[in-house]
Amino acid sequence: MENSIIVIFGASGDLTRRKLILSLCRLFASNLLPEDFAIIGASRSIYTNESFREHLSGAITEESETVRNAWKAFSGHISYQTVDTSDSGNFSELKERIATLAKSHNCGGNVIYYLATPPSLYGIIPEHLKAAGMNDESDGFKRLLVEKPFGYDLASARQLDTRIHRSFDEKQIYRIDHYLGKETVQNLLVFRFANTLFEPIWNRRYIDHVEITGCEFIGVEKRGGYYDDAGAVRDMLQNHLLQVLSMMAMEPPSKINASFMRDETVKVMQCFRPLSAEDLRENLVLGQYTESTVRGEKLPAYRDEPGVDPQSRTETFVALRMFIDNWRWSGIPFYLRTGKRLPTRATEIVLYLKKTPHPFFAGYASENKIVIRIQPDEGILINFGLKTPGAGFETTEVGMDFHYKNLSSGNVLDAYERLLLDAFKGDATLFARSDAVETCWEFIQPVLDYKRAEGSLYGYAAGTWGPLEAINLLKRDGREWRTPCRNLTSEQYCEL
Ligand code: BG6
Repeated sequence: MENSIIVIFGASGDLTRRKLILSLCRLFASNLLPEDFAIIGASRSIYTNESFREHLSGAITEESETVRNAWKAFSGHISYQTVDTSDSGNFSELKERIATLAKSHNCGGNVIYYLATPPSLYGIIPEHLKAAGMNDESDGFKRLLVEKPFGYDLASARQLDTRIHRSFDEKQIYRIDHYLGKETVQNLLVFRFANTLFEPIWNRRYIDHVEITGCEFIGVEKRGGYYDDAGAVRDMLQNHLLQVLSMMAMEPPSKINASFMRDETVKVMQCFRPLSAEDLRENLVLGQYTESTVRGEKLPAYRDEPGVDPQSRTETFVALRMFIDNWRWSGIPFYLRTGKRLPTRATEIVLYLKKTPHPFFAGYASENKIVIRIQPDEGILINFGLKTPGAGFETTEVGMDFHYKNLSSGNVLDAYERLLLDAFKGDATLFARSDAVETCWEFIQPVLDYKRAEGSLYGYAAGTWGPLEAINLLKRDGREWRTPCRNLTSEQYCEL
């Protein structure tokens, strides 16, 4: 891995402090960063190098001893540069700073720019970088990492893409979807394509239907201002859930590399059945949480959260029944749901297998299930029927459960660690390519139009599984959502 400078725009923000710096420090503590490197925090706020390091250091206190011990040496690589994005002169100063640090840290011309700013600056920063010649790769790589959200809808995503492409080539652009960095999401490919046990059944012949749940117990916390403009469809469905769905449903790539892998994810996205207004009326449920008391704690209604419009019609929950019109998945329903203030935090994929054709064991036809727990308690559960010990042929359902935490082999990188490491290595496999982002927006745009024009919005009490209508979405097909994390303690789990 080559030495490199990483410039983080939006350095005074929460993402930098809570995620990026911590992830870089953990990589450093595990000796995974290049031999030498420099981190430049850039934002409008005024800091000295020392006060910036001080500002970051608070986030390290809850880390493991190894990481805390590494902080001193690691933070020596961090400096700060004030950059006001409305002042092009600031970019020339930044360029000089990069050149000085590149010399002292032996980084040649290699630079990674990380856009962790508000999205309104995603267009202008690359333009400034280009104007100052800071995108030029003649002396080393220049990579641009862009945080989500990439666009606000189809039109703005296209505009942003065109704008960034004027300054950076697609091969220089790394769009972050941190769900792709999750170990369990990547494992989907190995689980599916490296196991004869599962590969042959992963299709419409054996799978009856699929559920993908991404639920959170937290509300909008301090992000009301951002969230009220975004909503669950933009915040989670358009990106994270659709990316997970594509990894779960894609065809095997002919090689595991950025281009072949991303070709396959786009191909399956292109097969998502377009959603007409009529489909949406039947297959989409939008909800918003209302006030409630959970374990003695009074949780406010979404409309009472700071930064949220008291009349807001923004959805904090979405459930969608959708189809993938291709050879593998024809006719199989996919049920997706995500929401804030649900009973717990859990992301999982559940594949329900078709029942056996002739249920002669006391009327029992086992409903085999494969549950892929993306988080927490990462692992895989397989449910199947077993003869109840004793006379006769009564059956009972049992599970074989694998937990990642039981693996003895070392430490699993968290999503940001993995993605930052890949950015240093120049491996774009786990970053969203332009066509994938656009295809997902194309699919989601009718939902946004529907929301604006007529979309009904149902209330649900904070701490419950969303509106009744979402339960009915499956019930009318004779199905039921799986309740994730039944094994959690009541402290972590708070169904009302
Ligand atoms: C972010 C969303 O992209 O993902 C947040 O903006 C959400 O609203 C978060 O809470 C969930 O990520 P994770 O990794 O905690 O599931």
